[in-house]
Amino acid sequence: MKVFAVTLLSIVVIGSGKLHAEDEKSKSISFKDDVYPIVKNNCLPCHAEDNFNPSELSLDTYELMRHGGKNGTPWVADDSKKSILVQKLMVEPPFDARMPLNSKRKIREGKAKWLTDEEIKLIADWVDQGAKNN
Ligand code: HEC
Repeated sequence: MKVFAVTLLSIVVIGSGKLHAEDEKSKSISFKDDVYPIVKNNCLPCHAEDNFNPSELSLDTYELMRHGGKNGTPWVADDSKKSILVQKLMVEPPFDARMPLNSKRKIREGKAKWLTDEEIKLIADWVDQGAKNN
């Protein structure tokens, strides 16, 4: 009985380890397919190269994004917590306004929204995976 229990336990442990590994792999995030569509819909209205934006940050392409704006490099690859691209999406950004810039009134009235937690996590995970042009 004891042997049986130990065997069963090891099957469960090994099995779940395997599942976990597959899970991690399938969650690889693509700039082109996952991150850019969010940026295009929510940020480009104000951060396109042809617009004037006081932050001088253009988000049209990966290269322009990487170049950054007034406050320098927008991400530290592998460290979303130090990346202003991610910090600026949070409730308390490190400087000026939360992105995407919105009036509190519009948010209150449901006419505008912040990014969802899922969208913010996706961008943060992409940075943590090395902010690749993939
Ligand atoms: C309605 C216009 C508007 C939208 C939409 C918008 N931004 Fe901004 N953004 C600004 C303005 C204005 C600033 C400069 C003031 C500030 O930093 O808060 C700025 C600054 C920034 C900065 C700081 C760059 C630097 O070097 O100073 C980042 C990062 C940023 N935005 C990211 C984003 C992202 C990501 C999105 C989309 C999720 C977004 N913004 C959507 C207007 C906008």
